Amino acid sequence: MEVTDGEIEVFFSAVFHRYGYDFRSYSQNFYETLNRLTITVTNLFRDPAFYRSLKDHVLPALAERKGFKVWHAGCSSGEELFSLMMLLAEADLLDEAILYGTDINPEALRRAKAGILGSDVIRKGARAYHDAGGQQTIMDYFRVNHGYGLFQKSKKANLVFSVHNLATDSAFGEMQLIFCRNVLIYFNEALRDRALELITESLSQGAFLCLGLQETLMFSSVDRFYDTIDSKHKIYRKK
Ligand SMILES: C[S@@+](CC[C@H](N)C(=O)[O-])C[C@H]1O[C@@H](n2cnc3c(N)ncnc32)[C@H](O)[C@@H]1O
Repeated sequence: MEVTDGEIEVFFSAVFHRYGYDFRSYSQNFYETLNRLTITVTNLFRDPAFYRSLKDHVLPALAERKGFKVWHAGCSSGEELFSLMMLLAEADLLDEAILYGTDINPEALRRAKAGILGSDVIRKGARAYHDAGGQQTIMDYFRVNHGYGLFQKSKKANLVFSVHNLATDSAFGEMQLIFCRNVLIYFNEALRDRALELITESLSQGAFLCLGLQETLMFSSVDRFYDTIDSKHKIYRKK
């Protein structure tokens, strides 16, 4: 659907009058505005105890398969994918995986594709990596130069990034694991259910879904299709 500049102006004018956020002067550059509207905060090993639970409850089931697909919906600048890839490498499962990282925000995806992180992000991640049960040192995964770290290319072999909008786009097929963490929290009930239905359609039977710690399947339209694996860390398995 073609959206005119006039329609965008009307939209941002409505946002300003209702919420007081003034994006009107950005309306000529929609990507710039999108960047400001979407909250892309992320971290390496965000919620380390969640990753410990993932190691205990999900990786053993993936290890039984010959090849598996993982989708990170709303992956922002990629830290979540890089975290999982480190744990998969240490479980000797990385070569079995094809990983998809999607987001609505092309600027965040550009950073994810580049795989370049600030050294402060990596330093903070080092502690979380350890708390998540990492077995080596986080520096084994980055080449650091002039205050930045480049996620090692050899570890990015089976990684695909693309723009995908959970509000309007369709399902991805036959995933064995989907991360959709700290994304649904920004949606209203109808949009949350739409996204969860799309995600449920994208998961194979017996596959896993991971949500953010403040998110839940409870009271959603898809709750009945899942068993709860870890209620505290929001890990679910499709029946
Ligand atoms: C707070 S970040 C969470 C990043 C990561 N999953 C984490 O937990 O650290 C939320 C991400 O969701 C993305 N997002 C927001 N609405 C979206 C939509 N409709 N479809 C896909 N991604 C969306 C934002 O661009 C942002 O990168």
